[in-house]
Amino acid sequence: KKGSYDHFMQKEIHEQPHSLTTTMRGRLKDSGVLLGGLKEYLKTIRRSRRVVFIGCGTSYNAALAARPFVEELTGIPVAMEVASDLLDRQGPIYREDTAVFVSQSGETADTLFALDYALENGALCVGITNTVGSTLSRRTHCGVHINAGCEIGVASTKAYTSQIVAMAMLALAVGSDQISTQARRQVIISGLSSLPSKASEVLKLDAEMKELASSLIDSESLLVFGRGYNYATALEGALKVKEVALMHSEGMLAGEMKHGPLALVDENLPIIVIATRDACFSKQQSVIQQLLSRKGRLIVMCSEGDASAVCPSGSCRVIKVPEVADCLQPVINIIPLQLLAYHLTVLRGFDVDQPRNLAKSVTTQ
Ligand code: UD1
Ligand code: M6R
Repeated sequence: KKGSYDHFMQKEIHEQPHSLTTTMRGRLKDSGVLLGGLKEYLKTIRRSRRVVFIGCGTSYNAALAARPFVEELTGIPVAMEVASDLLDRQGPIYREDTAVFVSQSGETADTLFALDYALENGALCVGITNTVGSTLSRRTHCGVHINAGCEIGVASTKAYTSQIVAMAMLALAVGSDQISTQARRQVIISGLSSLPSKASEVLKLDAEMKELASSLIDSESLLVFGRGYNYATALEGALKVKEVALMHSEGMLAGEMKHGPLALVDENLPIIVIATRDACFSKQQSVIQQLLSRKGRLIVMCSEGDASAVCPSGSCRVIKVPEVADCLQPVINIIPLQLLAYHLTVLRGFDVDQPRNLAKSVTTQ
């Protein structure tokens, strides 16, 4: 079933042009989106006082990537909750909330207990899942199946990108009654339809990422700095590296750099900085300058044509990715980091599809 691939994770990374296509099939039109599962609930969602995203691990990160465009297109404040933390705190959930549960498997215990809790508190509960017939799909009031196809590798890859796309369609559908964001919605719709071909393009970085992995194989740690739309990319890239390559890695908000992490910087610690084009670009340029002035060992991810803009001295390693509508850039930017984590794992000699101590679906608390 792995076909010409050595591992499921590798197959699933390379499948993304196709899985993104199936996520959008029959749902994305030039004029807008049609999500059969949400149609009857759009009015209720629009009236809610808050959207609360709830998930664990990669699914939480996908929701974090979606947060900025959900806020932008719907105007509804978005709160983020790691499922276990919501339960630990017994945090407030209200009848006026729309609670959106994100889970590839639809069977994660923490997420399902949080769902019971939100149902008890009277919130509208929406599921975003890859598994038709899962507990999450059955117990939520409504939702969206991401239709990414079965994911076997313990490290979630294609489900992550499809979850973000499903939530982009959700944001477009909920915000579709707003005149003021119509032009922006059109940009995002055409951005969505270009994603499969951009994903094919970025997958051509495979050999380059293998080479980069071989230069990092003996590192003890890897930091990933992102902000804005790509804060989630930093968290998710680091999660992939620690989970499969068994290397310490942390994703960090670049805006927090001076509040602690900067002390770690020296000429040995590899640091990936995500600096693709968006409203935060100039802030990331200055982060890079500050890291370079402390002799940081930098790997910068930037848009094509921006190598000298992000690193005029030429002293950084640069990963050039194709540009897409800014809020969808996380879908493209995570792919080289998935490839990097994959190659690091193989080169370090670890089990790719079944990492030490982990299970695909965490069905106990
Ligand atoms: C549905 C069909 C799809 C068909 C399409 C044609 C299913 C599973 N899907 O897709 O095969 O091609 O119509 O119009 O039969 N739901 C939840 N919670 C979740 C996820 C989904 O309650 O976490 C509910 C939805 O609200 C909806 C149903 O499950 O009632 C199916 O969802 P989805 O597959 O996303 O709907 P369509 O895209 O319309
Ligand atoms: O099935 P779910 O999306 O609910 O799973 C949540 C996490 O357990 C999962 O994403 C985990 O973090 C992955 N192994 C990450 O690759």
